[in-house]
Amino acid sequence: MENVDLKVNLSGLYLKNPTMLASGILGYSAQTLESIVEGGAAAVVTKSVGLKARKGYANPTVVQTSCGLINAVGLPNPGIEEFTRDIREAKAVLKVPLIVSVYGFSAEEYAIVAEKAVEAGADAVELNVSCPHVKETGAEIGQKPEVLAEVVRKVKSAVEKPVFVKLSPNVTDIGEIAEEAVKAGADAITAINTVKAMTIDIETTKPVLSNRKGGLSGPAIKPIAVRCVYEIYERMVKAPIIGCGGITSWQDAVEFMLAGATTIQIGTAIATKGPNVFKAVTRGLKAYLKRKGFRSVTEIVGLAHKS
Ligand SMILES: Cc1cc2nc3c(=O)[nH]c(=O)nc-3n(C[C@H](O)[C@H](O)[C@H](O)COP(=O)(O)O)c2cc1C
Repeated sequence: MENVDLKVNLSGLYLKNPTMLASGILGYSAQTLESIVEGGAAAVVTKSVGLKARKGYANPTVVQTSCGLINAVGLPNPGIEEFTRDIREAKAVLKVPLIVSVYGFSAEEYAIVAEKAVEAGADAVELNVSCPHVKETGAEIGQKPEVLAEVVRKVKSAVEKPVFVKLSPNVTDIGEIAEEAVKAGADAITAINTVKAMTIDIETTKPVLSNRKGGLSGPAIKPIAVRCVYEIYERMVKAPIIGCGGITSWQDAVEFMLAGATTIQIGTAIATKGPNVFKAVTRGLKAYLKRKGFRSVTEIVGLAHKS
């Protein structure tokens, strides 16, 4: 049987298969990122980093519910100055593209952090304009197309590496927002970040998370994420889509690609399946492509729109 080509060109980044680590699930350190690459990921995204160090919220910051995780960690991070050391260390050992996720409280801040990340060796940056639980950044930026466009333009003029924009599903029309981001220069769209959610302890009668509200991830959000990818692809935006949200199996990955994703990211499933989830997804995807008679994984991107 003919071999199947799993390689993907993601806005100039060479990926040996379409699986990537999603931001925030496994921090920053070179060792943890390396364990994910050993597990089969073809690219890794770091946890989001900002201009200044942040402690994040008090515990509890993550809660397991019957249908997924809800987190409101509050963007804890060491600040970009400190983090450049980790980027350099990670670059020295990783044999796959390293994407640094950045956030800021203004377009200027996003640009400064992105520039420092690229100077330290990031192969691309992913703009977190979608965190649902910190005020004046994240989703509060990504929900306003003009503000988002300004952030993307500033970052694009500050760095010469690909700029990915990670969108929130907590909007009325994600296709419109993706279109604005791409018009402003985004090289790829990541969809989606977590879905705004909360849970209440019926005995204490109080919200469980210290921040009260957080973001839901895991299998419960997969159909929402697939719909978002489908809607962005439908707009025929001139940039690849990175699908993310509830992927745990090769079948999920195929579904996202049929909806229009060129690559996929995995986060929460690492907690349940371990780092080898990337190998399992890639293996299953390859078998599916062979069985269906495709020669390259790129052939199935967006196929659901043709049927
Ligand atoms: C504990 C936790 C921390 C996260 N931190 C970040 C982050 O720092 N930046 C970001 O863009 N997304 C962050 N996310 C969102 C994930 O990258 C991903 O978009 C989301 O969890 C959906 O994918 P999944 O269902 O595969 O986890 C975080 C998710 C979790 C569960």
